[in-house]
Amino acid sequence: MPVIAIDGPSGAGKSSVSKGIALRGGWGYLDTGALYRGSTWLALQAGVSAPEEVANLVVKSNLNFNLSASDPKLIANYPLEQESKTDISEIIREELITNAVSAFSAMPEVRRELLLLQRNFIEKSNAQFGGAVVEGRDIGTTVWPDAELKIYLTADVEARATRRQAQLSELSDVSASSVADSLAKRDAIDSMRAASPLRQSEDQIVLDATYLNLEETIQALWNLIEERKING
Ligand code: DC
Repeated sequence: MPVIAIDGPSGAGKSSVSKGIALRGGWGYLDTGALYRGSTWLALQAGVSAPEEVANLVVKSNLNFNLSASDPKLIANYPLEQESKTDISEIIREELITNAVSAFSAMPEVRRELLLLQRNFIEKSNAQFGGAVVEGRDIGTTVWPDAELKIYLTADVEARATRRQAQLSELSDVSASSVADSLAKRDAIDSMRAASPLRQSEDQIVLDATYLNLEETIQALWNLIEERKING
């Protein structure tokens, strides 16, 4: 049951690469950033900011990620009292959430609950699809240290900002320099927090995608999978 952990800073292309690899291997896909974004959305909706209250809300709302690489969806039972299933896959990408998520993901209480949830999703993916491709910041270091392959996917901040700006420009008018500033800020908070920070570990393979396009990055990673006979 291979688990492939893909960590790295914002905008390095983790999502597109992880989905591509999951589709190629026929494995499930878990976007752990979506769970942190979902928790942030819940907290803002409910107007709670005390860490234990946010953690409690996360548990009660039963965040559910469907593990699909072709059509990933995040569903929350919110509002709580109505037992409703709300599809929050789109809304968690909004700038309001992007700007607030680092603060909520720095809360150890929130990380504690999401750690359990992430491990459950990986077990479910292994049972259902015979493996999982998991993207985040601390997958290889904390969430699944026994992963068969641990990748640190990175790129220069300018390359990451250009990519992110191209995605965002469909939605709004933003300059590359303001995108670079916000990426750098988020990386700094994600790397400096006390609880499970973004960091490179010795057993990770660093893949620098500054000069690679998406197909080339997927191929580079696939070569590693084949070399190590991870795909059976
Ligand atoms: O990958 P993303 O941009 O959607 O992630 C959103 C935020 O969630 C990111 O700023 C840091 C946090 N995160 C985290 O702390 N740990 C993870 N495993 C995944 C994401």
